[in-house]
Amino acid sequence: MSRLEINGERLWQSLMEMAKIGATEKGGCNRLALTDLDKQARDLFCQWCESVGCTISVDKMGNIFARREGSDSSLGAVSTGSHLDTQPTGGKFDGVFGVLSGVEILRTLHEQKITTRAPIEVSVWTNEEGSRFQPAMQGSGVYVGRFDLEQEWQKTDVDGKNVKDELVRIGYLGTEEIGSRHMQAFFEAHIEQGPILEDENKEIGVVRLGQGIRWYNVTITGRESHAGSTPMALRADALAAAANVIAEVENIALRNKPNGLGTTGFMQVHPNSRNTIPGSVTFSVDLRNPDPEVLAKMDQELNEYCQVIAQERGLSVDVDHFWYFAPVEFNASDNVKIAAEKLGYSHMDIFAGAGHDACYMADIVPAGMVFTPCKDGISHNEIEFTTPEQCTAGCNVLLHSMLEVAGIVD
Ligand code: GLV
Ligand code: MN
Ligand code: MN
Repeated sequence: MSRLEINGERLWQSLMEMAKIGATEKGGCNRLALTDLDKQARDLFCQWCESVGCTISVDKMGNIFARREGSDSSLGAVSTGSHLDTQPTGGKFDGVFGVLSGVEILRTLHEQKITTRAPIEVSVWTNEEGSRFQPAMQGSGVYVGRFDLEQEWQKTDVDGKNVKDELVRIGYLGTEEIGSRHMQAFFEAHIEQGPILEDENKEIGVVRLGQGIRWYNVTITGRESHAGSTPMALRADALAAAANVIAEVENIALRNKPNGLGTTGFMQVHPNSRNTIPGSVTFSVDLRNPDPEVLAKMDQELNEYCQVIAQERGLSVDVDHFWYFAPVEFNASDNVKIAAEKLGYSHMDIFAGAGHDACYMADIVPAGMVFTPCKDGISHNEIEFTTPEQCTAGCNVLLHSMLEVAGIVD
Protein backbone atom coordinates (compact mmCIF):
# COMPACT_ATOMS: atom_id res chain seq x y z
CA MET A 1 0.00 0.00 0.00
CA SER A 2 3.00 2.30 0.38
CA ARG A 3 2.89 2.87 -3.39
CA LEU A 4 -0.80 3.77 -3.53
CA GLU A 5 -1.22 7.04 -5.42
CA ILE A 6 -4.10 9.27 -6.29
CA ASN A 7 -4.99 10.14 -9.89
CA GLY A 8 -3.46 13.60 -10.36
CA GLU A 9 -5.10 14.17 -13.72
CA ARG A 10 -8.55 13.45 -12.32
CA LEU A 11 -7.89 15.76 -9.36
CA TRP A 12 -6.85 18.54 -11.75
CA GLN A 13 -9.93 18.05 -13.95
CA SER A 14 -12.17 18.27 -10.90
CA LEU A 15 -10.48 21.49 -9.79
CA MET A 16 -11.05 22.99 -13.23
CA GLU A 17 -14.66 21.76 -13.31
CA MET A 18 -15.42 23.28 -9.90
CA ALA A 19 -13.73 26.54 -10.98
CA LYS A 20 -16.39 27.02 -13.68
CA ILE A 21 -18.91 27.76 -10.91
CA GLY A 22 -18.45 31.48 -10.33
CA ALA A 23 -15.61 31.79 -12.85
CA THR A 24 -14.31 35.35 -13.30
CA GLU A 25 -12.88 36.96 -16.41
CA LYS A 26 -9.38 37.03 -14.96
CA GLY A 27 -9.41 33.27 -14.40
CA GLY A 28 -10.42 33.15 -10.75
CA CYS A 29 -13.63 32.51 -8.84
CA ASN A 30 -16.21 34.65 -7.09
CA ARG A 31 -18.28 32.21 -5.06
CA LEU A 32 -19.31 33.87 -1.83
CA ALA A 33 -20.73 31.80 1.00
CA LEU A 34 -24.42 30.78 0.77
CA THR A 35 -25.02 32.27 -2.66
CA ASP A 36 -26.60 30.36 -5.55
CA LEU A 37 -23.07 29.62 -6.77
CA ASP A 38 -22.10 28.16 -3.39
CA LYS A 39 -25.19 25.92 -3.69
CA GLN A 40 -24.09 24.73 -7.13
CA ALA A 41 -20.61 23.91 -5.82
CA ARG A 42 -22.07 22.05 -2.84
CA ASP A 43 -24.43 20.08 -5.09
CA LEU A 44 -21.54 19.03 -7.33
CA PHE A 45 -19.51 17.91 -4.31
CA CYS A 46 -22.42 15.80 -3.02
CA GLN A 47 -23.00 14.27 -6.44
CA TRP A 48 -19.31 13.34 -6.80
CA CYS A 49 -19.17 11.75 -3.33
CA GLU A 50 -22.44 9.84 -3.75
CA SER A 51 -21.23 8.40 -7.04
CA VAL A 52 -18.44 6.60 -5.16
CA GLY A 53 -20.80 5.18 -2.55
CA CYS A 54 -20.60 7.78 0.20
CA THR A 55 -23.49 8.91 2.35
CA ILE A 56 -24.05 12.64 2.80
CA SER A 57 -25.12 14.41 5.99
CA VAL A 58 -25.68 18.12 6.51
CA ASP A 59 -25.71 19.74 9.94
CA LYS A 60 -27.66 22.74 11.23
CA MET A 61 -24.85 25.09 10.18
CA GLY A 62 -24.86 23.73 6.62
CA ASN A 63 -21.57 21.86 7.07
CA ILE A 64 -21.54 18.83 4.74
CA PHE A 65 -20.02 15.44 5.59
CA ALA A 66 -19.45 12.67 3.03
CA ARG A 67 -18.79 9.33 4.73
CA ARG A 68 -17.14 6.17 3.43
CA GLU A 69 -17.57 3.28 5.85
CA GLY A 70 -14.62 1.34 7.23
CA SER A 71 -14.53 -2.25 8.47
CA ASP A 72 -15.12 -1.06 12.04
CA SER A 73 -17.76 1.62 12.25
CA SER A 74 -17.28 1.92 15.99
CA LEU A 75 -13.98 3.71 15.30
CA GLY A 76 -13.94 7.49 14.94
CA ALA A 77 -13.70 8.67 11.34
CA VAL A 78 -10.43 9.92 9.94
CA SER A 79 -11.58 13.17 8.41
CA THR A 80 -10.40 15.72 5.94
CA GLY A 81 -12.04 18.83 4.55
CA SER A 82 -11.90 22.52 3.78
CA HIS A 83 -14.19 25.05 2.11
CA LEU A 84 -15.82 25.76 -1.26
CA ASP A 85 -16.63 29.44 -0.68
CA THR A 86 -14.18 32.02 -2.06
CA GLN A 87 -13.23 35.66 -1.70
CA PRO A 88 -14.86 38.11 -4.20
CA THR A 89 -11.58 38.04 -6.14
CA GLY A 90 -10.69 34.49 -5.18
CA GLY A 91 -8.72 31.84 -7.01
CA LYS A 92 -9.40 28.25 -8.01
CA PHE A 93 -7.46 26.60 -5.18
CA ASP A 94 -7.96 28.27 -1.79
CA GLY A 95 -10.15 25.78 0.08
CA VAL A 96 -11.28 23.94 -3.03
CA PHE A 97 -7.97 22.09 -3.28
CA GLY A 98 -8.52 20.62 0.18
CA VAL A 99 -12.10 19.57 -0.51
CA LEU A 100 -11.35 18.05 -3.90
CA SER A 101 -8.26 16.28 -2.56
CA GLY A 102 -10.70 14.61 -0.18
CA VAL A 103 -12.97 13.68 -3.10
CA GLU A 104 -9.97 12.32 -5.03
CA ILE A 105 -9.03 10.17 -2.02
CA LEU A 106 -12.59 8.76 -1.90
CA ARG A 107 -12.37 7.97 -5.60
CA THR A 108 -8.96 6.31 -5.27
CA LEU A 109 -10.08 4.11 -2.37
CA HIS A 110 -13.26 3.20 -4.27
CA GLU A 111 -11.48 2.40 -7.52
CA GLN A 112 -8.80 0.32 -5.77
CA LYS A 113 -11.48 -1.44 -3.70
CA ILE A 114 -9.64 -0.61 -0.49
CA THR A 115 -11.35 -1.07 2.86
CA THR A 116 -9.99 1.09 5.64
CA ARG A 117 -10.42 0.06 9.25
CA ALA A 118 -11.77 3.44 10.38
CA PRO A 119 -14.37 5.30 8.31
CA ILE A 120 -13.12 8.11 6.08
CA GLU A 121 -15.00 11.43 5.95
CA VAL A 122 -14.70 14.50 3.76
CA SER A 123 -16.25 17.74 4.96
CA VAL A 124 -17.21 21.07 3.42
CA TRP A 125 -17.31 23.81 6.05
CA THR A 126 -19.72 26.72 5.73
CA ASN A 127 -18.32 30.24 5.23
CA GLU A 128 -14.64 29.73 5.86
CA GLU A 129 -13.73 32.97 4.12
CA GLY A 130 -15.54 35.43 6.37
CA SER A 131 -16.05 37.75 3.43
CA ARG A 132 -19.84 37.85 3.14
CA PHE A 133 -20.54 37.01 6.82
CA GLN A 134 -18.13 37.46 9.73
CA PRO A 135 -16.14 35.92 11.27
CA ALA A 136 -14.14 33.53 9.11
CA MET A 137 -14.17 29.76 9.73
CA GLN A 138 -17.75 30.19 10.87
CA GLY A 139 -18.99 26.65 10.12
CA SER A 140 -16.09 24.84 11.78
CA GLY A 141 -16.15 27.36 14.64
CA VAL A 142 -19.80 26.52 15.33
CA TYR A 143 -19.05 22.79 14.94
CA VAL A 144 -16.42 22.77 17.70
CA GLY A 145 -18.45 25.04 19.99
CA ARG A 146 -16.39 28.23 19.66
CA PHE A 147 -19.45 30.09 18.35
CA ASP A 148 -23.10 29.78 19.24
CA LEU A 149 -25.29 28.38 16.44
CA GLU A 150 -28.24 30.71 17.05
CA GLN A 151 -25.99 33.75 17.10
CA GLU A 152 -24.20 32.79 13.88
CA TRP A 153 -27.55 32.08 12.17
CA GLN A 154 -28.46 35.73 12.78
CA LYS A 155 -25.28 37.23 11.28
CA THR A 156 -26.10 39.44 8.31
CA ASP A 157 -24.35 40.44 5.09
CA VAL A 158 -24.17 44.07 3.90
CA ASP A 159 -27.70 43.73 2.43
CA GLY A 160 -29.15 42.54 5.74
CA LYS A 161 -29.65 38.89 4.67
CA ASN A 162 -28.94 36.44 7.47
CA VAL A 163 -27.10 33.12 7.51
CA LYS A 164 -30.09 30.99 8.50
CA ASP A 165 -32.40 32.34 5.80
CA GLU A 166 -29.67 31.93 3.21
CA LEU A 167 -29.04 28.33 4.33
CA VAL A 168 -32.77 27.61 3.94
CA ARG A 169 -32.90 29.37 0.58
CA ILE A 170 -30.07 27.29 -0.93
CA GLY A 171 -31.36 24.05 0.65
CA TYR A 172 -28.47 23.49 3.07
CA LEU A 173 -30.01 24.02 6.49
CA GLY A 174 -29.45 20.43 7.61
CA THR A 175 -30.97 18.56 10.55
CA GLU A 176 -27.89 16.93 12.04
CA GLU A 177 -26.96 18.24 15.49
CA ILE A 178 -23.84 20.37 15.66
CA GLY A 179 -20.69 18.56 16.78
CA SER A 180 -22.37 15.16 16.85
CA ARG A 181 -20.04 13.23 14.55
CA HIS A 182 -17.51 10.73 15.83
CA MET A 183 -14.04 11.62 14.50
CA GLN A 184 -10.57 10.61 15.65
CA ALA A 185 -8.40 12.93 13.54
CA PHE A 186 -8.72 15.78 11.07
CA PHE A 187 -6.35 16.62 8.21
CA GLU A 188 -6.57 19.53 5.78
CA ALA A 189 -4.64 20.07 2.57
CA HIS A 190 -4.36 23.70 1.46
CA ILE A 191 -2.23 25.86 -0.78
CA GLU A 192 0.36 27.77 1.24
CA GLN A 193 -0.92 31.22 0.13
CA GLY A 194 2.59 32.57 0.78
CA PRO A 195 6.03 32.45 -0.89
CA ILE A 196 8.09 30.24 1.43
CA LEU A 197 7.77 26.75 -0.11
CA GLU A 198 8.44 28.16 -3.57
CA ASP A 199 11.46 30.13 -2.34
CA GLU A 200 12.84 27.11 -0.49
CA ASN A 201 12.05 24.81 -3.40
CA LYS A 202 10.06 22.34 -1.28
CA GLU A 203 7.11 20.28 -2.49
CA ILE A 204 5.33 19.93 0.86
CA GLY A 205 4.84 22.14 3.90
CA VAL A 206 4.33 20.30 7.18
CA VAL A 207 2.19 22.85 8.98
CA ARG A 208 3.09 23.08 12.67
CA LEU A 209 1.18 26.18 13.75
CA GLY A 210 -1.70 28.44 12.74
CA GLN A 211 -0.97 32.06 13.64
CA GLY A 212 -3.18 34.22 15.84
CA ILE A 213 -5.77 36.57 14.34
CA ARG A 214 -7.70 39.52 15.77
CA TRP A 215 -10.61 41.06 13.86
CA TYR A 216 -12.20 44.43 14.60
CA ASN A 217 -14.91 46.73 13.31
CA VAL A 218 -13.84 50.31 13.96
CA THR A 219 -16.58 52.93 13.79
CA ILE A 220 -15.62 56.58 13.80
CA THR A 221 -18.39 59.09 14.35
CA GLY A 222 -17.75 62.73 13.53
CA ARG A 223 -20.13 65.29 12.05
CA GLU A 224 -21.42 65.82 8.51
CA SER A 225 -21.04 69.35 7.25
CA HIS A 226 -20.47 71.31 4.06
CA ALA A 227 -17.15 70.75 2.26
CA GLY A 228 -17.09 74.35 1.00
CA SER A 229 -18.16 76.36 4.00
CA THR A 230 -16.79 74.50 7.05
CA PRO A 231 -13.38 75.86 8.15
CA MET A 232 -10.78 73.17 8.81
CA ALA A 233 -10.72 73.95 12.53
CA LEU A 234 -14.45 73.28 12.89
CA ARG A 235 -14.51 69.88 11.27
CA ALA A 236 -15.03 66.42 12.77
CA ASP A 237 -14.07 64.48 9.65
CA ALA A 238 -14.59 60.77 10.29
CA LEU A 239 -12.80 59.66 7.13
CA ALA A 240 -9.70 61.79 7.77
CA ALA A 241 -9.53 60.22 11.25
CA ALA A 242 -9.97 56.77 9.68
CA ALA A 243 -7.01 57.52 7.40
CA ASN A 244 -4.86 58.13 10.51
CA VAL A 245 -5.98 54.85 12.08
CA ILE A 246 -5.42 52.86 8.89
CA ALA A 247 -1.90 54.27 8.53
CA GLU A 248 -1.29 53.32 12.16
CA VAL A 249 -2.48 49.73 11.48
CA GLU A 250 0.38 49.48 9.01
CA ASN A 251 2.81 51.07 11.47
CA ILE A 252 1.80 48.65 14.23
CA ALA A 253 2.58 45.73 11.90
CA LEU A 254 5.92 47.24 10.86
CA ARG A 255 6.94 47.95 14.47
CA ASN A 256 6.17 44.36 15.50
CA LYS A 257 8.77 42.73 13.30
CA PRO A 258 9.40 40.20 11.90
CA ASN A 259 5.92 38.63 11.80
CA GLY A 260 3.47 41.45 12.52
CA LEU A 261 0.71 41.91 9.91
CA GLY A 262 -2.03 44.55 9.75
CA THR A 263 -4.74 45.11 7.12
CA THR A 264 -7.82 47.21 6.47
CA GLY A 265 -9.79 45.63 3.64
CA PHE A 266 -13.38 46.80 4.13
CA MET A 267 -14.83 50.28 4.58
CA GLN A 268 -18.22 52.02 4.55
CA VAL A 269 -18.35 55.82 4.40
CA HIS A 270 -21.44 57.83 5.30
CA PRO A 271 -22.96 59.68 3.50
CA ASN A 272 -20.34 58.99 0.80
CA SER A 273 -20.93 62.24 -1.03
CA ARG A 274 -18.05 64.31 -2.38
CA ASN A 275 -19.10 67.69 -0.99
CA THR A 276 -20.18 66.54 2.47
CA ILE A 277 -17.55 65.96 5.15
CA PRO A 278 -17.93 62.29 6.14
CA GLY A 279 -19.95 61.96 9.35
CA SER A 280 -19.27 58.31 10.04
CA VAL A 281 -17.01 55.57 8.79
CA THR A 282 -16.85 51.87 9.61
CA PHE A 283 -13.87 49.79 8.58
CA SER A 284 -12.25 46.45 9.31
CA VAL A 285 -8.90 45.83 10.98
CA ASP A 286 -7.14 42.46 10.75
CA LEU A 287 -4.06 42.01 12.98
CA ARG A 288 -2.00 38.79 12.91
CA ASN A 289 1.01 37.28 14.63
CA PRO A 290 2.14 33.73 15.46
CA ASP A 291 3.15 34.87 18.98
CA PRO A 292 0.10 35.51 21.21
CA GLU A 293 2.00 37.99 23.39
CA VAL A 294 3.09 40.10 20.44
CA LEU A 295 -0.45 39.98 19.09
CA ALA A 296 -1.79 41.18 22.46
CA LYS A 297 0.69 44.07 22.33
CA MET A 298 -0.49 44.96 18.82
CA ASP A 299 -4.08 44.96 20.11
CA GLN A 300 -3.09 47.34 22.91
CA GLU A 301 -1.29 49.65 20.49
CA LEU A 302 -4.38 49.84 18.25
CA ASN A 303 -6.69 50.66 21.17
CA GLU A 304 -4.35 53.31 22.56
CA TYR A 305 -3.94 54.99 19.21
CA CYS A 306 -7.71 55.08 18.66
CA GLN A 307 -8.16 56.86 21.99
CA VAL A 308 -5.51 59.43 21.08
CA ILE A 309 -7.13 60.13 17.70
CA ALA A 310 -10.58 60.47 19.28
CA GLN A 311 -9.26 63.08 21.68
CA GLU A 312 -7.11 64.96 19.18
CA ARG A 313 -9.86 65.22 16.59
CA GLY A 314 -12.85 65.55 18.90
CA LEU A 315 -14.86 62.64 17.58
CA SER A 316 -15.74 59.17 18.82
CA VAL A 317 -13.82 56.04 17.85
CA ASP A 318 -15.47 52.76 18.77
CA VAL A 319 -13.28 49.65 18.49
CA ASP A 320 -15.35 46.46 18.40
CA HIS A 321 -12.93 43.54 18.80
CA PHE A 322 -15.36 40.82 17.78
CA TRP A 323 -13.05 37.88 17.00
CA TYR A 324 -9.87 36.56 18.57
CA PHE A 325 -8.36 33.44 17.19
CA ALA A 326 -5.43 32.22 19.34
CA PRO A 327 -2.44 30.57 17.64
CA VAL A 328 -2.96 26.83 17.36
CA GLU A 329 -0.53 23.90 17.25
CA PHE A 330 -1.17 21.05 14.81
CA ASN A 331 -0.31 17.95 16.79
CA ALA A 332 -1.13 15.42 14.03
CA SER A 333 1.28 16.99 11.55
CA ASP A 334 3.90 14.35 12.42
CA ASN A 335 1.74 12.04 10.28
CA VAL A 336 2.10 14.54 7.43
CA LYS A 337 5.87 14.52 7.79
CA ILE A 338 6.00 10.71 7.88
CA ALA A 339 3.83 10.53 4.74
CA ALA A 340 5.96 13.10 2.87
CA GLU A 341 9.13 11.17 3.75
CA LYS A 342 7.63 7.80 2.80
CA LEU A 343 6.62 9.17 -0.60
CA GLY A 344 9.99 10.87 -1.16
CA TYR A 345 8.74 14.47 -1.38
CA SER A 346 10.95 17.32 -0.23
CA HIS A 347 9.37 19.05 2.76
CA MET A 348 9.83 21.61 5.51
CA ASP A 349 8.05 22.72 8.66
CA ILE A 350 6.02 25.90 8.21
CA PHE A 351 3.33 27.99 9.95
CA ALA A 352 -0.02 28.99 8.45
CA GLY A 353 -0.61 32.70 7.84
CA ALA A 354 -4.30 32.26 7.06
CA GLY A 355 -7.00 30.85 9.24
CA HIS A 356 -8.15 27.33 8.34
CA ASP A 357 -10.96 25.02 9.41
CA ALA A 358 -8.31 22.62 10.73
CA CYS A 359 -7.38 25.31 13.29
CA TYR A 360 -10.78 24.92 14.93
CA MET A 361 -10.91 21.15 14.46
CA ALA A 362 -7.69 21.01 16.51
CA ASP A 363 -9.89 21.90 19.53
CA ILE A 364 -11.59 18.51 19.45
CA VAL A 365 -9.30 16.01 17.65
CA PRO A 366 -5.62 15.74 16.71
CA ALA A 367 -5.29 17.86 13.57
CA GLY A 368 -2.67 18.13 10.85
CA MET A 369 -2.17 20.25 7.74
CA VAL A 370 -0.42 19.72 4.39
CA PHE A 371 0.67 22.77 2.39
CA THR A 372 1.50 22.89 -1.30
CA PRO A 373 3.48 25.73 -2.94
CA CYS A 374 1.60 28.67 -4.41
CA LYS A 375 2.94 30.59 -7.41
CA ASP A 376 4.69 33.81 -6.32
CA GLY A 377 2.97 33.41 -2.95
CA ILE A 378 -0.19 35.07 -4.32
CA SER A 379 -3.63 34.09 -2.99
CA HIS A 380 -7.00 35.81 -2.47
CA ASN A 381 -6.40 36.83 -6.06
CA GLU A 382 -7.81 35.50 -9.31
CA ILE A 383 -4.34 34.53 -10.56
CA GLU A 384 -3.65 32.22 -7.60
CA PHE A 385 -1.94 29.10 -9.01
CA THR A 386 -0.53 25.74 -7.98
CA THR A 387 0.71 23.28 -10.64
CA PRO A 388 -0.98 19.92 -11.28
CA GLU A 389 2.19 18.19 -10.00
CA GLN A 390 2.13 20.21 -6.78
CA CYS A 391 -1.56 19.37 -6.28
CA THR A 392 -0.82 15.68 -6.87
CA ALA A 393 1.97 15.68 -4.30
CA GLY A 394 -0.21 17.42 -1.70
CA CYS A 395 -3.10 15.00 -2.25
CA ASN A 396 -0.80 11.95 -2.06
CA VAL A 397 0.60 13.19 1.24
CA LEU A 398 -2.93 13.80 2.53
CA LEU A 399 -3.96 10.25 1.49
CA HIS A 400 -1.04 8.61 3.28
CA SER A 401 -1.40 10.81 6.37
CA MET A 402 -5.00 9.64 6.65
CA LEU A 403 -4.27 5.96 5.92
CA GLU A 404 -1.56 5.96 8.59
CA VAL A 405 -4.29 6.69 11.15
CA ALA A 406 -7.25 4.88 9.56
CA GLY A 407 -5.44 1.61 8.79
CA ILE A 408 -6.19 -0.74 5.89
CA VAL A 409 -7.87 -4.15 5.95
CA ASP A 410 -5.66 -6.62 4.02
C1 GLV B 1 -9.38 33.23 6.51
O1 GLV B 1 -9.20 32.21 5.95
C2 GLV B 1 -8.36 34.19 6.80
O2 GLV B 1 -7.23 33.79 7.06
O3 GLV B 1 -8.66 35.37 6.74
MN1 MN C 1 -8.77 28.74 2.63
MN1 MN D 1 -9.20 32.26 1.82
